[in-house]
Amino acid sequence: MIKNVSVIGAGTMGNGIAHLFAQHNYKVTIIDVSKDQLSNAIKIISKNLDRQVAKNIITDQAKDIALANISINNSISEGVQKADLVIEAATENVDLKLKIFKELDDGTSTSCILATNTSSISITKIASYTKRPERVIGMHFMNPVPVMKLVEVIKGYKTSNETSSAIVNLSKSLRKVPCEVNDYPGFIANRILMPMINEAIYSLYEGVAGVEEIDTIMKLGMAHPMGPLQLADFIGLDVCQSIMNVLYDGFGNPKYSPCPLLNNMVSAGIKGIKSGEGFYKYTPGVKELVVSSQFL
Ligand code: CAA
Repeated sequence: MIKNVSVIGAGTMGNGIAHLFAQHNYKVTIIDVSKDQLSNAIKIISKNLDRQVAKNIITDQAKDIALANISINNSISEGVQKADLVIEAATENVDLKLKIFKELDDGTSTSCILATNTSSISITKIASYTKRPERVIGMHFMNPVPVMKLVEVIKGYKTSNETSSAIVNLSKSLRKVPCEVNDYPGFIANRILMPMINEAIYSLYEGVAGVEEIDTIMKLGMAHPMGPLQLADFIGLDVCQSIMNVLYDGFGNPKYSPCPLLNNMVSAGIKGIKSGEGFYKYTPGVKELVVSSQFL
C-alpha cells in the first residue's frame, strides 16, 4: 500500500507531481535544498488548484484538503523517513541523480519504491547505485502534470514485475493512463518527440520556413496543441539539447545530433520560457505569442 509519497525537487515537475498526489489524497512531502523553491512550489500549487476550482474540476474544500496533504522539508534524510514511494524530480544531471539515489537507498525502508521522473537518463544505471534495483523504476510525468494524462512507466533491466504493477496501479489511482516501456535511450516519449522538435529547428536553421509557419503547420495540420518550436520553449531548450545528446550518445547515430542552432541558442543562455526568450519572446502578463526578433 502506497500512502506516503516524497517528491525530491520543487521545480515545475516536482510541484506538479506533488499537486497530483495531494489532490488524490496521498500524503506528500516535497523536498528541496532551497527554502525559497519550497515556498514558491506551495504558491504555484495553490494557484494551479485555484484554476481547477475556477473550472469546477475540484471544489474549494478539495483544494484545502489537497494543500493540507502537503508538507515540505529541506533535508532528504528527514523527508523520506516515512515514504512508501519516493519520486525524484531533480535537475536532469546524472551525477546529481546517482548521488540522490544512493542517499535514498540508505535513508528509506527496504520496501520503499524509488522512482525517477527523468526524461531520458538510464533507469538501469540509476538503479545500479542502489541495493534494490528491483524496486527502482521510471515514472515519467508530462508537463503540466495535473493536465496531461500520460505516465510513461519505465522498467529498468532489473525492475521487478511487482514494482511495475504497483506503479501502474498507482498511476490509475491518480486517474492517469500508464504505458509500460523498456529502458532504452529516450524511452518512447522523448525518442519520438525530440527528433521531431530537432527537425523543426533544422527546418528553421536551413531557412525552409519561419517560426510561425513551422508551428502553424504542425498545429493545424497535425492537431498538435502547440507547434514544435513553442513546445521546445515550453520544455526548455537546454532540456531538449540534453535529451538529444542522450539519444546521440546512447545510439551512436548521427541522426540524433542536436541542431547547431539549438546548441547556439543554449550557449547564448536562450532557453525558452524560463529565460524569457526562445523561438518566441515572453513578457510577463502578455499572453499572445510574439516571435523572437532573431527570427523575424
Ligand atoms: N495545473 C492545473 N491545470 C492546468 C495547468 C496546471 N499547471 N496548466 C493548464 N491547466 C489547465 C487549464 O486550467 C485548462 O483547463 P480546462 O481544459 O479545464 O479549461 C487547461 O489546462 C488548458 O489550459 P489553458 O486554457 O490555460 O491553455 P491551453 O488550452 O493553451 O492548454 C496546455 C495548455 C495544456 C499546456 C496545452 O497547450 C498542451 O497540451 N500543450 C502541449 C503540452 C505537452 O506536449 N506536454 C508534454 C511536454 S513533454 C514533457 O513534459 C516530458 C519531457 O520529458 C520533455
